Amino acid sequence: MIKPPDYVAGIKPYVPGKPIKELERELGIKECVKLASNENPLGPSPKALNAVRECLKNSGEMNRYPDGSGHYLKHALSEKFSSRGTAVSPDEIILGNGSNELLDIAVRTFMADGDEAVMATPSFIVYSMSVQSVNGISIQVPLTGYRHDLARMADAINWKTKMIFIANPNNPTGTINRKNEFEEFMNRVPAGVLVVIDEAYYEYVTDAAYPDTLKHVRSNKEVLVLRTFSKAYGLAGFRIGYGIADKDIVTELNRLRLPFNTTSLSQVAAQHALDDDGHLGKSIAVNEEGKRFLYGELDSLGLAYVPSEANFIYLPLPVDSGAFFNALLHKGVIVRPMGPKEVRITIGLPEENRRLIEALKAVINNA
Ligand SMILES: Cc1ncc(COP(=O)(O)O)c(C=O)c1O
Repeated sequence: MIKPPDYVAGIKPYVPGKPIKELERELGIKECVKLASNENPLGPSPKALNAVRECLKNSGEMNRYPDGSGHYLKHALSEKFSSRGTAVSPDEIILGNGSNELLDIAVRTFMADGDEAVMATPSFIVYSMSVQSVNGISIQVPLTGYRHDLARMADAINWKTKMIFIANPNNPTGTINRKNEFEEFMNRVPAGVLVVIDEAYYEYVTDAAYPDTLKHVRSNKEVLVLRTFSKAYGLAGFRIGYGIADKDIVTELNRLRLPFNTTSLSQVAAQHALDDDGHLGKSIAVNEEGKRFLYGELDSLGLAYVPSEANFIYLPLPVDSGAFFNALLHKGVIVRPMGPKEVRITIGLPEENRRLIEALKAVINNA
C-alpha cells in the first residue's frame, strides 16, 4: 500500500469540536449546547444570508467558476479599511478558504525541509501541523502567564528560522500581547523571517493596548496579518478569511494558492457581512455580556479562569479535563478539552451560558 513520507505519517489529524448531532445520536439526548469551536452563536449576518439567497435566485451562476481573484470582496475590504483610516490596497490582500488555508499556504511558500518556525505552546495547533507537512521544525516556546512570551520567542530565532506565528488573541487562552512588547519583539526580528500575526479574534478585542499590526504592512515589514469571517462575522461554514501583507509577499503567496480557493457564495456572504456593522456590533455585545455573566458565575463556583479578549474562556481545572469534558457531555454541553487539566469554553447565547452553568453546578455537586 502506498505510504506518505514519515514526516507526513507523523501528523495527528486535527480533531474538530464534537458536532451537536453526533452527541445527540450517541447519548440519546436532545437540545445539546455546543460551546466548543468558538463560533458566533448569533449566526451569520442576515444581510449576508439575504445576499446569498438573492444570488441563488438568479442561479448564482453556480455552473461557473468563482472569480478567482475575489475582486469585489478585496475592494470591499480595502474600502472598509480606508473608512477606518487605514490604507490597504486590494493587491495587499489575499483571500483564503478560511484563514487556516492562508497560514498553510504561507508555510508551503516560505519553508522547506529542515527550516524552523517559532510558535507558542499551547497555541493554535494548525501551525505545527502545517510546518510538519513540509518537514519543517516547530520550535515551541511555552506561554508565560498564559500569554506568548515574545522575548523568549525572539531568543529562539536563529539562521534556520523562516517563520514566526503569533496568535493574538491566543487560542486557547484568549490572552493578548500588547503594543509595547509587540513593538520590542518586532525590532528583534531580522530580515528574511516572516511574522504571521493571526488575528482570528481581532473584532472581539477591547484592550486599548492591542497592537496595530497593519502599520508594519505599511512600513514594508515581512508580516502577514490573518483575519477571518469565521468568528465575529459568523460565517465559519462558508470558509472565508483573508491575509494582509506587502504586495510582494502576496505575490509569492499567490503562487501556491489554488485557482478557485474561495467559493462564489462565500465571497458574496463576506462582502455583505462587511456591510452589516449592526450584526457585528450585536455579536460583540452578546459576547461581552456572556463573558461578564460567565466570569461572575465561575467566580461564585470557585473555578479559576483566564480573562479573555476573545469569544472563549480557558479554564485551568483542579481535575482531569477528559473526565470533566465527559461529565458535561452527559449533561448535553460540549466544551473542548485542551490539555490534561485545561478546557476551553466558547461564550454562547445567554440561554446556552445558563445551561453551561447549570451543568457545571451539577457536575461539581456530583463530584
Ligand atoms: C487562532 C486561530 N487562527 C485561525 C483559525 C482558523 O479560522 P478559519 O480557518 O475558520 O478562518 C482559528 C479557528 O479556530 C483560530 O482559533
